[in-house]
Amino acid sequence: MLTEQMRNILQQMPKAELHIHIEGSLEPELIFALAQRNGVSLAYASVDELRKAYDFTDLQSFLDIYYAGASVLLKEQDFYDMTAAYLARAQADNVRHAEIFFDPQTHTARGVPFETVINGIWRACQDSPVSATLIMCFLRHLPEDEALATLDEALPFRDKFIGVGLDSSERGHPPEKFCRVFERCRQLGLHLVAHAGEEGPPAYIETALDLLNVERIDHGVRCLEDADLTARLAREQVALTVCPLSNIKLRVFDKMDDHNLMRLLDAGLVVTINSDDPAYFGGYINENFFSTFDSLPLGVEHARTLARNSFSAAFLEGEAKRGYLNEVDRFFQQATATKD
Ligand code: ADE
Ligand code: ZN
Repeated sequence: MLTEQMRNILQQMPKAELHIHIEGSLEPELIFALAQRNGVSLAYASVDELRKAYDFTDLQSFLDIYYAGASVLLKEQDFYDMTAAYLARAQADNVRHAEIFFDPQTHTARGVPFETVINGIWRACQDSPVSATLIMCFLRHLPEDEALATLDEALPFRDKFIGVGLDSSERGHPPEKFCRVFERCRQLGLHLVAHAGEEGPPAYIETALDLLNVERIDHGVRCLEDADLTARLAREQVALTVCPLSNIKLRVFDKMDDHNLMRLLDAGLVVTINSDDPAYFGGYINENFFSTFDSLPLGVEHARTLARNSFSAAFLEGEAKRGYLNEVDRFFQQATATKD
């Protein structure tokens, strides 16, 4: 059960969000507003009808609707408005720093220029009081050559993103399909992450680490099926960006009581809590905290660990990282000080 006091701590604690697909923050209301603004016709008659379609059976059933939703994004201002809306929600949840995924191929395939996508998203990040950096994701259901071509398109904007990731349909598209493009990105000094072990097997986590050289694993919840892999993730302190509400909506777990987040923490893993696609999965980052703490036997020490992990695992440099960690420590000293 989530007490009022615990809820306040989770709401107010400073945190970083490390796994958010900006296209997954597109709320139905904004989808309809942008469709009207751009003269795009939608397969749904109303916001309510669209929301009713958010009843997913697995990752692919979600991705089909997610890519359809993104079809309303055409102009730089659309990407700006989407990103500004997310950052306002993040600020309200006391997110201090966000590392935001974007999927350029979803847009360039529809004829939207790469620069339109990145300039709109990046400008909104510059205008926000929340610290925000960008991670460009390659769509793993497409061939590696298309990822390489996307990287070429992105290079003139190298200063506007800090890393690359790998997302979309996981099963049947193992990390090793993208060895060449990740190696190029590594040589360019980009940070590397990949979705692995969400629906795909633990072996994908291993190949993401060994063959793509990623620094963090997105999701990774299936690692517990392999004891040696779990021990390795703990030993090497590889961060997992876990997204609890996403896992329930996409039926990775039946219900939140069954989620393995507590077991991941108990195994000594660097777990973080994130929203993934908040407009589709029923809540932004704080809703993910509330829901997990409501269902699992987690307390204030876990909250402190999760807040610290979010900054430890962030791609932030010395001073900035230390500053946020100090802010977390001060927050918990005050929140847990006994009043007499
Ligand atoms: N793209 C957006 N959300 C995703 C997820 N949860 N897994 C893989 N690709 C995604
Ligand atoms: Zn994701």
